[in-house]
Amino acid sequence: MYESGKDCSSQAFAPRQDGAGRRVLVAASEIYPLAKTGGLADVCGALPKALSALGADMRMVMPAYPEALDAAGKLQVDMAAEIGGETLRVLRGRMPDSGLPVWLVDCPALFDRPGTPYQDASGQDWPDNFLRFAVFAQAAAMLALGYNSEGWRPDVVHAHDWHTGLLPLLLHAETGPRPATLFTIHNAAFQGNFALNEAAALGLDRGYLTPQGAEFYGQFSCLKAGIRYADAVSTVSPGYARELMTPEFGYGMEGLLRQRQDRFLGIMNGIDADVWNPAGDPHLNAHYSRPDCGGKAACKRELQRSFGLAVENDAPLAISASRLTSQKMADVLLTSIPAIMAEHPRLQLALIGRGDRQLEQGFTAMSERYPGRVAVQIGYEESLAHRMHAGADLLLHGSRFEPCGLTQLYAMRYGTLPLVRRVGGLADSVIDCDDIATPWRTGFIFDGISGDALQHALRRGLAVYERQREDWFALQRNAMAADFGWRRSATQYLQLYRRLGGAWAPEAARPLEAAIG
Ligand code: ADP
Ligand code: GLC
Repeated sequence: MYESGKDCSSQAFAPRQDGAGRRVLVAASEIYPLAKTGGLADVCGALPKALSALGADMRMVMPAYPEALDAAGKLQVDMAAEIGGETLRVLRGRMPDSGLPVWLVDCPALFDRPGTPYQDASGQDWPDNFLRFAVFAQAAAMLALGYNSEGWRPDVVHAHDWHTGLLPLLLHAETGPRPATLFTIHNAAFQGNFALNEAAALGLDRGYLTPQGAEFYGQFSCLKAGIRYADAVSTVSPGYARELMTPEFGYGMEGLLRQRQDRFLGIMNGIDADVWNPAGDPHLNAHYSRPDCGGKAACKRELQRSFGLAVENDAPLAISASRLTSQKMADVLLTSIPAIMAEHPRLQLALIGRGDRQLEQGFTAMSERYPGRVAVQIGYEESLAHRMHAGADLLLHGSRFEPCGLTQLYAMRYGTLPLVRRVGGLADSVIDCDDIATPWRTGFIFDGISGDALQHALRRGLAVYERQREDWFALQRNAMAADFGWRRSATQYLQLYRRLGGAWAPEAARPLEAAIG
């Protein structure tokens, strides 16, 4: 099966006293800047950088999508293998930004395709997604067991989202020494559920295919496999961790997560403060920082101009820059636009997004109905997202559920005030302007998922923008001062890795929450 690469199966794992949990393999389907469809990529790019700065030996593995191969630069073949009838090579390179080592699982039959990592150009899931990510997980498991040219073995494998859910299961099935596993849930709505016979074809022990294993309502669930078999499970905000254990937000995983409660915790995402920095962002036409935000006005003019909106500095400019899906309440925003436009004649709205075809068409129609006031770009453009956060006054970000949300964190860093629903990581990161419990207020929060609730919050926000300018600037300064950098959360992950990579005694261990400061 293994054509090259060192067979290290007989080597013992290195002692884990001082350096316990120091060597970590991050496995994810997307890692910025090699591939990105959303926040998962941002986190999997930035967190390893922050951990490396704290002294951890970080390496990453992801599929070799065409865009990843283009962005990665120089690559070497590290090993070749045949898995699930597919011939693949594992290529070794370095991340273009951080220089951290990365392995790309290169299997052109599975990954060299147009469209996104998950869907074809018409928005349909690739029919062989189980095979694609099962092969990826098996290749990652081989690397984790030391089948790589250096015989490098991690103390901990950190797997992200359903695409890597099989990895904790495969390592659980190992009879020899193996690294500990941490599985992070970024979005429990995406579960990777497939026909049981597809999983059976991997030759897994039957127990893995039962309800006590990874069977989920008659299917095999990659998400459940990760939750069930990882040594510890985390998610991306404390609020979402609590919500995931309820039927409203757990998407059927709430029971299992409650069962595993003492191995489950929420760690708030951070942002890459180098990539998202209005003081030096190469995507912007002008730069600024707190307390002198003069350059933001130039960014606003440029944004209005490029979107075909009236160039008026004192017209409030709201943006939306998220996937166009029901998760993001894009449907509620869409149906609210006529009422919003009627109530606030000076308000401008600029939107970038892609997602549900009907929503894309609906927003495009709104831009035709309100020319010069509603501007819409359907698509995905990283650079424009930066320019929008810099040029806007307000970010409209409702969500039916939001595990963390990075968009509102980016907006705040650029002095754009978030208007969000009180849910998940949004509630953990935004403080309402009427919250008298703290002076560190940063935005506007609404409850529920109705258009009325969103419009009411917008009314409050625009009242401050138009009539309480000093309060608006104070909110802006607070938002820009809020520390959403990775340092604190990376330290929490490091503590967790140490705990996992050290002597792991499930029966005796204290609940994780108590152990992670
Ligand atoms: P999610 O991962 O659920 O989509 P997040 O807020 O965590 O939500 O992260 C979304 C990321 O994707 C952010 O970096 C955001 O700027 C980016 N993004 C989303 N849609 C677009 C788009 N159409 N163009 C550019 N960037 C986008
Ligand atoms: C998911 C979630 C989002 C989170 C991101 C990164 O895509 O929907 O809330 O910020 O992952 O963890």
